[in-house]
Amino acid sequence: MVEQSLWMRKVADNPGHSAWYVERFRSMARAGDDLAGEARLVDAMVQRRARILDAGCGPGRVGGALAAAGHEVVGVDVDPALVEAAEQDHPGPRWLVGDLAELDLPARGVTAPFDALVCAGNVMTFLAPSTRREVLVRFRAHLADDGRAVIGFGAERGYPFDEFFADAAAAGLEPDLLLSTWDLRPFAADADFLVAVLRPAG
Ligand SMILES: C[S@@+](CC[C@H](N)C(=O)[O-])C[C@H]1O[C@@H](n2cnc3c(N)ncnc32)[C@H](O)[C@@H]1O
Repeated sequence: MVEQSLWMRKVADNPGHSAWYVERFRSMARAGDDLAGEARLVDAMVQRRARILDAGCGPGRVGGALAAAGHEVVGVDVDPALVEAAEQDHPGPRWLVGDLAELDLPARGVTAPFDALVCAGNVMTFLAPSTRREVLVRFRAHLADDGRAVIGFGAERGYPFDEFFADAAAAGLEPDLLLSTWDLRPFAADADFLVAVLRPAG
């Protein structure tokens, strides 16, 4: 067993949290808001019909958009209520309940490595801190040798960017491109957000 994620602690403290989160995105979708910015960046990085892992997929907005663009998507999230919403709102991808700190998709019949992994929406800051490095190790293990992971999260959320880069290096992932937004603004030392495109080291 791994330490419980900060997200599931929030859910334990407030059992309405997951339903609130699902409804928040459903209402933005009804309002016609743009919910696919992260997916557009990832779509531009890969060949058609790529294999993409949506890590911490939540209710499926990123993986759903990538599946709609023709990619083969697997989504994994620790919160069963969000995975159920992903199944309802974005049928098609394989949506799985699981903790990223224990990610082992070959054990669940998903054996081929991924061309890209996307981890959007501050997922890294909702992990149990003791599991962050292990999650990155598992990300690397699920990527093809020429695959890339795209991970986005905000500053001032308890996971300093320097620590993240050190954990990524220890996990065998090195920066390919660093951005401060999903619409391709360059990263700077004082950026309040990081979008890290990482590749397997070596
Ligand atoms: C703010 S939501 C973002 C959801 C989705 N990526 C998006 O951008 O719409 C954070 C997500 O991280 C997931 N999460 C947090 N810790 C996790 C873990 N250890 N394993 C899997 N998912 C986790 C939560 O369940 C939640 O769905």
